[in-house]
Amino acid sequence: MKHWRIEDVAWDRFAAERTDRAIVPLVKAAALVERNGTDYAVYLHNVFRDDPDFGGAVDTWAAEEVQHGDTLGRWAMLADPSWDYAAAFAQFRQGYHIPLDAETSVRGSRTGELIARCMVETGTSSYYTALAEAAAEPVLQEICRLIAADEFRHFKLFYDHMRRWLARERIGLPRRLRIAAGRIGESEDDELAYAWHCANEPAGLPYQRARCVADYRGGAMSFYRFHHIERGMGMVFKAVGLPPRGRLSDVSARLAWWFVRHRQRRFARSTGAVPAVAA
Ligand SMILES: [Fe+2]
Ligand SMILES: [Fe+2]
Repeated sequence: MKHWRIEDVAWDRFAAERTDRAIVPLVKAAALVERNGTDYAVYLHNVFRDDPDFGGAVDTWAAEEVQHGDTLGRWAMLADPSWDYAAAFAQFRQGYHIPLDAETSVRGSRTGELIARCMVETGTSSYYTALAEAAAEPVLQEICRLIAADEFRHFKLFYDHMRRWLARERIGLPRRLRIAAGRIGESEDDELAYAWHCANEPAGLPYQRARCVADYRGGAMSFYRFHHIERGMGMVFKAVGLPPRGRLSDVSARLAWWFVRHRQRRFARSTGAVPAVAA
């Protein structure tokens, strides 16, 4: 059962004048990626076809992801009444596919698949937490908090099943680290870039991955603060089986934060904006 419904959101509190225009395109792109959750459910059912425990959980998870998409899509249409969520999603579906006929995980093992899912949920939970804290518009704040809470629960779901599969498959730490790092690297892949294109670029402008990655990434990065990165790093460490709090996790979080700050400054320079965090 889902933890909340779209009707539970206080839509009548929407305040157009409090909407940050820089957030709207990010919400539109996120709506399309989230809405695509049912495809991942098909893929996960294939990969875990002999694991009915997990199969049951996947359907609830996918329904929640689709609801994230529909909720963000509805908000984006309030913020920009000229935007057509259904049409943008149809365009996205036409051009972006995941391998639905895969019989085994593209990560090489079931444990690897679940570690990769933990990385995605780490990313989404941090992202919606950052958006909720940055948003001045009350409905968006509420939506992002609800979604972030779901994403933290999704992390726990995949983590618990991963521990069960790890006991069977016994994958070593170096391989777990490689899988986690690989999935984090893919955050800049075609899925987000193409969603950005379908959600925000004018019809007729050909898709160009590098341009869309730069625009999407630049906008998204600007909302992160150190505590988001620190918490996310703890989750990454936990998922690969390292202590989530400690010296190594601290140093890694500081390095990641340095990288995020570097990106934030570069994006601010390219747009002529003032960096959101001064130091
Ligand atoms: Fe989601
Ligand atoms: Fe999720």
